[in-house]
Amino acid sequence: MQDRLTYPVSLRERLREDLQAVHDALDQKISTLDLTDRGEYRAFLAMTHMALSGIEAEGGDATGLLDEMVRALAEDLEALGDPASAPLAPVRVHPLALDYVLIGSRLGTQVLRKRWLAGADPQVKAADAYFSLPAQGAAWRALTDALGTMSGADRQAAEVVADARALFQRFSASLELCRTSLSPVLEPKRHGPHVPA
Ligand code: HEM
Repeated sequence: MQDRLTYPVSLRERLREDLQAVHDALDQKISTLDLTDRGEYRAFLAMTHMALSGIEAEGGDATGLLDEMVRALAEDLEALGDPASAPLAPVRVHPLALDYVLIGSRLGTQVLRKRWLAGADPQVKAADAYFSLPAQGAAWRALTDALGTMSGADRQAAEVVADARALFQRFSASLELCRTSLSPVLEPKRHGPHVPA
């Protein structure tokens, strides 16, 4: 049963706890991609573009960021000579779910950016719009402060958590749909970053 005794009190805690497993699974799959390799970088951009296109949320701080991210991804794909893929069906989510997933994802993007920066392929390095977007550290702190003051056990919390989960699933669905081109690189690698030594 899901009640206040089961869940941490704030919405901030509940989002982190409830969605950690789905985040970690996605992180592991995406982390198998070598972002210094032109084909794998293109696959990363394509699946991220597919996941983010068609998300609608009324209000929320991250709608402008969403547009910037989609635009930057399309620009990078074009620079690499690959048209953006057909989008998934549109989805409407609670604005706090969009803020959480999108602004939170910028934390992981800083990790991915370092991996991408280590590459030498000039075409990969020139397609730099997505990884040049600002990190959103201040927005993340403001958001988590606000979520920390909200209940993790009311109806809004249930809606935000469900919608944020749906957004993570949208990334997984994009990975699946891109699997034809991604399959060779999405197989677990023996020396991937998450395989213990
Ligand atoms: C593209 C899909 C991804 C989405 C939507 C996403 C989303 C998020 C969210 C919402 C958070 C905040 C978690 C919280 O504190 O409540 C987060 C944190 C984080 N993510 Fe991701 N993420 C994604 C991919 C990745 C990948 C591929 C990596 C690894 C390279 C990664 C690494 C991290 C790290 C290091 C944090 C910070 C954890 C902490 O400070 O406690 N993420 N991500």
